Amino acid sequence: MLRLGGQHGFIDAEKDRMTFTLRNVPEGDYEGLEFQIGLPPAVNHADPAQWPARHPLNPIVNGLHWGWSGGYVFAAIEGRWRAAAAEEERGFSYHLATDARLMTVGFNALVSTAGATRIRLALDLGKVLGHHALQPDDDSESTHSGPGDALAVSLSRAMERAWFFLESGPAPPAVLEPTWVDDAPRAVGGTPRAFVVPAGFPQPELPADNPLTLEGVALGKLLFNDRRLSAGRGQSCASCHEEQRAFAEARRTSVGVDGITGARNAMPLFNLAWSPSYAWDGSKPRLRDQARAAMINPIEMHADPDVVTAELSRDAELSRKFATAFGTPVISPSRIELALEQYLLTLVAADSKFDRAARGQAMLTEEEQRGFALFAGEYDPARGRQGADCFHCHGGALFTDFGFRDNGLGDTRGDAARAGVTGRATDTGKFKTPSLRNVAVTAPYMHDGRLRTLADVVAHYDHGVWRTPTLDPNLAKHPSAGLQLTREEQRALVAFLRTLTDAALEPAVVRK
Ligand code: HEC
Ligand code: HEC
Repeated sequence: MLRLGGQHGFIDAEKDRMTFTLRNVPEGDYEGLEFQIGLPPAVNHADPAQWPARHPLNPIVNGLHWGWSGGYVFAAIEGRWRAAAAEEERGFSYHLATDARLMTVGFNALVSTAGATRIRLALDLGKVLGHHALQPDDDSESTHSGPGDALAVSLSRAMERAWFFLESGPAPPAVLEPTWVDDAPRAVGGTPRAFVVPAGFPQPELPADNPLTLEGVALGKLLFNDRRLSAGRGQSCASCHEEQRAFAEARRTSVGVDGITGARNAMPLFNLAWSPSYAWDGSKPRLRDQARAAMINPIEMHADPDVVTAELSRDAELSRKFATAFGTPVISPSRIELALEQYLLTLVAADSKFDRAARGQAMLTEEEQRGFALFAGEYDPARGRQGADCFHCHGGALFTDFGFRDNGLGDTRGDAARAGVTGRATDTGKFKTPSLRNVAVTAPYMHDGRLRTLADVVAHYDHGVWRTPTLDPNLAKHPSAGLQLTREEQRALVAFLRTLTDAALEPAVVRK
């Protein structure tokens, strides 16, 4: 028998990520294969910051690591169902992860490896879910693998027996996963600036073709505040992204340089280095794309890039700054974007009262602790758990999984949301899950600023969730009456959210 230690894979049917690659498999004939679903406790509870960008165990890749809530989820099965007589669809959410018992899947199958070999397996979900009956509001709609949770154990046993070997043969080159190591960054001039990953944060994937330099970052900051980037010098990026509000805005939705009101609230800007895509619908793959879009969008800065570069090029002092950052004094739209990108990448939020308390340098009040317990607690009344379930989407050090979700706001008032990017009807009503860091200074809330205060947000999750067809299963599994938190519990949740404000912004909280 041959053991391949320390190799991990991650598959995600929703994102169509269905392959993983094993390396250094000796060529030969094998009689079968075996793998485990799950991680040994030592790996499960180790610091996830050790995994490089794009590694299957990097929380940004898998979205299944919930820092303070006990390691990874090994298998997540979420969906919707309708009871025979019921009007409305309900959600189910099974999160299988038991340190005490990893799932082991094995086959007898003759497999020859010679060169790159592909092995195709199938998982029959009917065999996992088929044996157990769903009932509204009993204990059958969710399991989160707590101690003594019989449902989690029976589902994980069923999971072991639900896999089938299909075939093996030479691998088409396209299925091989790209390697995680990027080429060395291209030097473009300037003094290299280190990017420090805060303790407990995952490793981000920084753009390899735009390495941070002191000069590039400083130039980006200047440009961010420069009204010459817009038509008629009317607006800078900072007009909508106010530093004291964690670079969000106080308006419900943005107003552009021509006085036209847009449909979305300006997003706060921090921890962008970790975000896999940008804008409420994830339509912009890179920060430079978002920066360009803001400059040329007719309802935002409405600039003509040629006019902007011509005007900036008349500024000799600025040309010198481009020269120190990029090697030559040329000012071009793409250099403006790259400098803005560098600056935006350096905006990091990791120093709140919550972080200080985690390091033992501050104490949360009793109310704040109660709020945190609710935030990080399952809603699973059948097993005696009465949490508010927030961490499923807002979990981990970044307080977001960067997923696109329908959190029950109901009518999106004509906004195509994520469906506008993917063209999939199932993505209607889904928006990027925002980080909850600094949320005390970023009111109003949601993609269209429809909720005014944090109390309104908590009331929404408590009893205001609309049961749309795309409502996320993690909310659809709550009873129709909602979470039914007491007033004290709602206040405690708000108190906890207020501990997430960065030290640099705390005076802004006091002033309000
Ligand atoms: C008119 C107001 C306005 C101006 C000016 C503006 N923004 Fe924005 N910004 C927004 C809005 C609204 C969104 C959300 C956009 C969306 O979802 O389509 C946003 C989103 C972003 C995001 C995405 C953040 C995330 O977490 O996904 C970044 C980055 C950003 N803006 C950077 C900039 C930069 C750089 C500039 C200047 C070049 C700029 N913005 C100018 C209103 C503005
Ligand atoms: C199913 C995933 C999910 C769960 C569970 C969830 N949220 Fe959210 N949350 C989202 C999404 C998605 C948005 C943005 C929705 C939009 O703007 O359309 C959001 C927005 C917010 C906002 C507004 C942030 C901003 O910048 O506008 C706050 C505050 C918030 N959630 C707090 C909570 C709290 C507290 C809980 C638990 C009671 C919770 N969320 C549970 C997905 C979730």
